[in-house]
Amino acid sequence: MNNIIGKNIYALRKKQGLTQERLAELVNVSFQAVSKWENGISAPDVSVLPLLANALRCDIDSLMGYAAEQRKITDYEERYKSRAYYWGTMPSNMCYEVMKLLPPPLRLLDIACGEGKNAVFFARNGYSVTAFDAAESGLEKARRLADEMNTEVNFFRADMLDFRLESEFDIIFCSGALHYIPPKLRTEILENYKQHTSNGGLHAMNVFVEKPFIERPSDKETSATKWSSGELFTHYTDWRIEFCSERIFDCNSGGVPHKHCMDTLLAVKQTDKLR
Ligand SMILES: C[S@@+](CC[C@H](N)C(=O)[O-])C[C@H]1O[C@@H](n2cnc3c(N)ncnc32)[C@H](O)[C@@H]1O
Repeated sequence: MNNIIGKNIYALRKKQGLTQERLAELVNVSFQAVSKWENGISAPDVSVLPLLANALRCDIDSLMGYAAEQRKITDYEERYKSRAYYWGTMPSNMCYEVMKLLPPPLRLLDIACGEGKNAVFFARNGYSVTAFDAAESGLEKARRLADEMNTEVNFFRADMLDFRLESEFDIIFCSGALHYIPPKLRTEILENYKQHTSNGGLHAMNVFVEKPFIERPSDKETSATKWSSGELFTHYTDWRIEFCSERIFDCNSGGVPHKHCMDTLLAVKQTDKLR
């Protein structure tokens, strides 16, 4: 075994000024386990990788030694490089709706969390939060925001097109990002999220919707495909819909005034099938 991951854990741990004991504490293993990883005697379990990446302030690819092949997945990688928070630091309204329906403490996943405004809000309010995004520059700001707010979020880098959940959450939250999933992958990915939601758990999601009368932005991203009206709701016919809406609103992101149409859904996984 050439132990690339062990060497990376050692180098990143030193860079972060962490002892083996402290790293072990952060990822809920014994310090002997950390020592074995670093010496190439064993390798960390896949389920520990997000925690390790968060503790070592890197992404899973770098940890595994794939950094040289790291490709840019999203244009936001550049946009988030500015000092200011592109989306601000105030949580979106959907966060308050989640809190009303399922108050903390619960396990919450924020998918495509951007610069972390929603994930950090949830963590500050007592949820146990895991969050990922494809843009490392956004995650760096998200980690900084969490530090400033004196709270902890398990942030890691992942591409939602190939990342699949293996552990369960009580709440899955995704704001303004599901249009990056191409239509042919939507059922499979949402099924994975639904299966990894606890009974009585909640999905809070919104999607940008295509409307023929809304002009397409000149800088339309090639990786994005808006959803059709009502499409999101069709994936939740077996869940209890707590809230759903479609609305058109003005937006000024990127400094160019434009309009969007958005469908929003809050749905609860049913424990019994009687409605
Ligand atoms: C409109 S922003 C929304 C960010 C955040 N949810 C918020 O409400 O502030 C869309 C986000 O999707 C992320 N993204 C785009 N493609 C992605 C992918 N394939 N996997 C994970 N995240 C992706 C971008 O980096 C960006 O942060």
